[in-house]
Amino acid sequence: MSQFDTIIPRKGTFCAKWDRQGGDYLPMWVADMDFRCAPELLASVEKRLSHGVFGYGANTEETGEAIVSHYKRLYQADISIEDLVWIPSVMPGANLACRLAGGKMIYQTPMYSHIRRLPKEARTTAIEVPMKEEDLYFTMDFDALEAAIDEETKVFILCNPHNPVGRVFSREELLKVADFCEKHDLLVVSDEIHCELVFDRPHIPFFTVSDWARNHSITLSSAGKISNIPGLPTGFAIIPNREMREQYRDICLGLFSTPNALSFAALCASYNGSCAGWKRELLSYLENNRDYMEERLKKMGLPVVHNEGTYLAWIDVRGEGIEDPFTFFRENAGVHMNAGTEYDRNGKGFVRLNFGCPMSQLKEALDLCEKALIAHRNKRS
Ligand SMILES: Cc1ncc(COP(=O)(O)O)c(C=O)c1O
Repeated sequence: MSQFDTIIPRKGTFCAKWDRQGGDYLPMWVADMDFRCAPELLASVEKRLSHGVFGYGANTEETGEAIVSHYKRLYQADISIEDLVWIPSVMPGANLACRLAGGKMIYQTPMYSHIRRLPKEARTTAIEVPMKEEDLYFTMDFDALEAAIDEETKVFILCNPHNPVGRVFSREELLKVADFCEKHDLLVVSDEIHCELVFDRPHIPFFTVSDWARNHSITLSSAGKISNIPGLPTGFAIIPNREMREQYRDICLGLFSTPNALSFAALCASYNGSCAGWKRELLSYLENNRDYMEERLKKMGLPVVHNEGTYLAWIDVRGEGIEDPFTFFRENAGVHMNAGTEYDRNGKGFVRLNFGCPMSQLKEALDLCEKALIAHRNKRS
């Protein structure tokens, strides 16, 4: 038995996924995992907690060094502590990056729902361009981007690994992004929060693909996803371009409070190598969940996009004649997923399923969905 098989009751723990569903459903939605953190990470937080004094924080040097070494070890990427800017979490960091760019943003859909709220939050507008979909394989559509972009566009939002379609973009694709953005003089805001959650191929940080990319991008990340600590928020921006970094620091001035002691204890443990064994086990567990889920859905006759990274599955319900698949599965199967329309205004026929949970929970969710689907198909025929 794996440590990740353990069911940990989360109801009543101020937990968005379990406590904010508006009913009693099996929650397969919000992007956190139903797993306990790595013991090494918990020990780091407990040590800091048991110290018992929580004055203003200062020394983030050790965490910075851990991140720099981590990037070297995992991605052979050269960054220095000076390139890092601490942010409260990824989304506020993205907001500030967009404000810095000071213009319209462009991105491809489907796209993570909170990124779709960024235009409003960053007081700007967005051009949404559909990705190319061929046999349920999603790629960036550069012809469509060319046709849609205008003079006021200043920022390209990249989400890699991609939420919700689970793509891990190749070097070739990332170089195309760099070419497109160089041509149109865009700042690339690269949300790489899922970067360690990859199965089929390694993650490539965007800033490593070329000198241009290094100098014209702001990479945002955190340990929120891989170490399952979004409730201990803190993150970092990687900005190798010194001038841009100074501008970013300037726009951050006065906005953030002191570094959170417990968040930093967790962040440091996530990057200093102490959780490496736990992360390996997690990835193999998630990969097994993914394979099981894809196989089960195939048998059910429900197409699903093959997931290369993240623990999120993009399921195609277009062929079932169901007007609103999210509500259908919630009300008929008791399974709460995310509605495709959160990610794409044309995403009516999709749902997003979070498979970051014990296998028994995943099986239960798929059993319930299958039953509801069979009943629906029988009624239709
Ligand atoms: C792609 C992506 N970016 C950002 C976030 C949230 O980041 P944070 O909680 O660090 O603001 C999520 C959470 O689901 C995500 O999937």
